[in-house]
Amino acid sequence: MERKYPNLCKPLTVGRVTFRNRMFSAPMGGTDITNDGCIGPKSTAFYELRAKGGAGVVTVSECMVHPKTDGSHAYHLDPSILNSLACATYTADAIRRHGCIPSLELSHSGMFAGTYMTDKSKQKSMNQWGPSDTVRADGVVVKALTKELIDEIVESYKNVSIMAKRAGFEMLMIHGGHGWLINQFLSPLFNKREDEYGGSLENRCRFAIEVLKAVREGVGPGFPIEFRMSGSEFVEDGYDLEEGVRIAKMVEPYVDILHVSAGTYQKTFGITHPSMFTDHGRNVFLAEEIKKHVSVPVATLGGLNDPAQMEEIIASGKADIVYMGRALLADPFLPRKIMANKDEEIVKCLRCFTCMAERAATSTRRCTVNPLIGREMEGDVIYPAPVKKKVLVAGAGPGGLYAAYTAARRGHEVILCEKTNQVGGILKSEQAIPFKQEMYQLSKTYELFCKQWKVDIRLNTEVTPEYVEKEKVDALIIAVGSNPLVPNLPGLHGDNVVVVNNYYLEKEKVSDDVVVFGGGLAGCECAIHLGMEGKRVHLVEMRDVLAPDANVRHRPLMLKEIDKYVTVHTGYKGLEVRKDGILCEDKEGNQVLVPGTSVICALGQRSNIKDVEALRDSAEYVAIIGDASKVSTITNAVYWGYHAALDI
Ligand SMILES: Cc1cc2nc3c(=O)[nH]c(=O)nc-3n(C[C@H](O)[C@H](O)[C@H](O)COP(=O)(O)O)c2cc1C
Repeated sequence: MERKYPNLCKPLTVGRVTFRNRMFSAPMGGTDITNDGCIGPKSTAFYELRAKGGAGVVTVSECMVHPKTDGSHAYHLDPSILNSLACATYTADAIRRHGCIPSLELSHSGMFAGTYMTDKSKQKSMNQWGPSDTVRADGVVVKALTKELIDEIVESYKNVSIMAKRAGFEMLMIHGGHGWLINQFLSPLFNKREDEYGGSLENRCRFAIEVLKAVREGVGPGFPIEFRMSGSEFVEDGYDLEEGVRIAKMVEPYVDILHVSAGTYQKTFGITHPSMFTDHGRNVFLAEEIKKHVSVPVATLGGLNDPAQMEEIIASGKADIVYMGRALLADPFLPRKIMANKDEEIVKCLRCFTCMAERAATSTRRCTVNPLIGREMEGDVIYPAPVKKKVLVAGAGPGGLYAAYTAARRGHEVILCEKTNQVGGILKSEQAIPFKQEMYQLSKTYELFCKQWKVDIRLNTEVTPEYVEKEKVDALIIAVGSNPLVPNLPGLHGDNVVVVNNYYLEKEKVSDDVVVFGGGLAGCECAIHLGMEGKRVHLVEMRDVLAPDANVRHRPLMLKEIDKYVTVHTGYKGLEVRKDGILCEDKEGNQVLVPGTSVICALGQRSNIKDVEALRDSAEYVAIIGDASKVSTITNAVYWGYHAALDI
């Protein structure tokens, strides 16, 4: 068949290994690690899903090589641990049986040991080792590695490589980027040594090269070794792209693939993991430049999820391989959909950082748009329901759409009613905000799935108890969402006020001087967007902090954008909306006018309790999901919708 994206679908042979395509899965840690550092069955299932989804390679995340001097990265291949090799073998095997090449990332976190621990206080009781003596910004003392310890660590890379090969891994990724140990040696910012490992670039590359040589000794010829590096550290006193090119040239003789990522985990998180506020593929230029100077295949990544863009990257010779991290959580089957010319079915990553934040908060994984992530063992196959039922879903927001789609996949007859003239619920309001386009697009993709599965979508249809009775349904899923909170404040119902949910319909009404009233997530993101459009934006929030409920990864990046575009007034209570702004009371009780001729009302949402109460006794099986149940996240709406449909 003729492939729509022939370059992405083209195999690649490196050493003795042939990859089935150019779409590789970037290392992302599964979370099910035993206390003695073995990889558990849930993590195996986490990786297997992407192998099943068609990736050319699935990289198993950070295997610790030298526990004595490292503690950040949870699992390790250690012959002294009874099950360690067996566990790694099950994981490699689970990837390989789908025709995908299993690769293992070997890593050492060096001076940042402990970064991944949920309980950060434990870090202080660990020994942190780096290239040089220093004290970290968080007060943790770092000791310089001695030559003996360096030799031990290098030797341990070799030993772990041998074990990894024995376990069935067919490629190794040596992590030399993102601010971890090898990167710390490469970086003039961290490496202040005066011996043969510090100073000149040649000296700073010495540790990396010793590691790479040791790994080669471990795995032998023909076995692909990939070096993950940051093309530029993007920090003051760190190395830039020019030096990144020189590093790439220095290590090239010892590697088979150069994997060009960017930045450091600790200092430029939003570059290493490009946020929704940045361009897709904002780091591709790094690989493109390095590729001009080396002859081994070069890989790129960072916010990639669009097939046309990825195809162009390879077709134009900017890189030979594209890696995806988050995009393959959102849709593990993305590579298969591309291979099958079905790219319109790809569920796109929102770059909302739920995946990373959930790990920090609860040591689990989640994905907003894919309810299976972190719970892969519960099964990615939807089995037909034993008895076919008639199901009515009231409300076509993200939860309702996903519930309808899932119920239909199970073979039920499904009607999806939406009282407005368009599906999407609260996601409709995202269409006017360019950096949230993918949220809007999500509703379109879920709508497509509903149509493919013959869900009977009825727009402009309000569900009442009489309607449910008339349809004689067996199951009702109430997904009627929430309504914006617009309190009875003087002036808040005036002509100069636009409720944030309606911004997409009324954006022409918004003048160049705006006050956003409410500093939750919706208010903050709308304020950023208005600022990006060149408007003068003030933000009024009664609490002392903005968006306290936003997740711990997204929030700091969002606050940086707020700093760029918005004048913030926290601790301000709005008293009255006027034609020239909002009259507020500050904490000292002074009255202050925050100026602006337009006001965006973003004071939060309330569950649509009236409709829920009216409907809750209308059918034998009733499930209430999403904001209708509790004002919450898209993540919960989709997850609850999925399970409500499985429960029928
Ligand atoms: C949930 C998650 C876990 C990650 N874990 C690792 C890891 O263990 N090792 C690593 O080198 N990079 C890790 N990364 C970084 C990714 O490999 C990748 O470099 C980054 O997410 C940028 O790619 P993306 O924009 O396609 O997600 C992780 C990223 C995510 C989203």
